[in-house]
Amino acid sequence: MDLGISGRKAIICASSRGLGRNCAIALAEAGCDVVINGRDEKALRATGEEIRATGVHVTEVLADVSTSEGQRALLAACPTPDILVNNNGGPPRKDYTELNREAMIEGVIQNMITPIELIQAVTGHMCAQGFGRIVNITSLSVRMPIEGLDLSSGARAGLTAFLAGVSRQIAGQGVTINNLLPGKMDTDRLKGGFERAASQSGQSIEAIRAAQAAEIPAGRFGTADEFGKTCAFLCSAHAGYLTGQNILLDGGLFPSAF
Ligand SMILES: NC(=O)c1ccc[n+]([C@@H]2O[C@H](COP(=O)([O-])OP(=O)(O)OC[C@H]3O[C@@H](n4cnc5c(N)ncnc54)[C@H](OP(=O)(O)O)[C@@H]3O)[C@@H](O)[C@H]2O)c1
Repeated sequence: MDLGISGRKAIICASSRGLGRNCAIALAEAGCDVVINGRDEKALRATGEEIRATGVHVTEVLADVSTSEGQRALLAACPTPDILVNNNGGPPRKDYTELNREAMIEGVIQNMITPIELIQAVTGHMCAQGFGRIVNITSLSVRMPIEGLDLSSGARAGLTAFLAGVSRQIAGQGVTINNLLPGKMDTDRLKGGFERAASQSGQSIEAIRAAQAAEIPAGRFGTADEFGKTCAFLCSAHAGYLTGQNILLDGGLFPSAF
């Protein structure tokens, strides 16, 4: 299917590796020029080279997206994006009793304030031109508690509630805002979790991995490729009537009828 977005300009935050990277790849495959981002130069340049091979224009922005300077650099690289994919790292896994005020503020900046600030910066132009696509990478943990990720879940739930109104406010101007909720996707972040669980339990990484995969109705982890392609569809010309939604990509892990 032609996604109908060839020639569109997209900013994909936190996209040198993992889910963000595959969102950028899928958008580039659909013909979008992409701005990619990360803090590690080597990973960012490698992803930039790989995407450039598809023939689209790629701009690499080496910056921390959580900072005002980082956001300014992203917007300077592409002042009038047609597509914005909000992504960021999340706060480290920690028991809620160990979170001090500073850590909580940092978590809210990462997973709530940063995407809102970027949305504020791009929707004026998107509404004026009558087209815009915004996808926020949040988490299954917004729907289902995950131990030790309370700060991440709370900040992302705050973002979700904030944007529930905003998405309706601008829906009539051709701009959509949706949240894409990863369950257990096979990325570096997931691997880090296996290593932690293995060292705590004394089991092998392979045993932890197999046990976690078996808990998922699909019987496996999701791939970043599947995630990226779903994101690209949400950004497509065909998804203009889909807004204000939370789309779970979890292989059926969250058990609910609705
Ligand atoms: N994978 C899963 O199963 C899963 C499940 C639920 C939620 N999530 C959430 O989905 C998001 C993406 O996860 P992932 O699995 O793709 O993680 P990942 O494999 O660790 O990749 C994270 C990417 O974000 C970049 N990044 C992190 N912090 C950044 C910052 N402050 N500024 C700019 N770039 C930054 C990283 O590059 P640098 O480190 O070089 O900056 C890297 O490119 C995270 O928020 C994660 O919590 C993932």
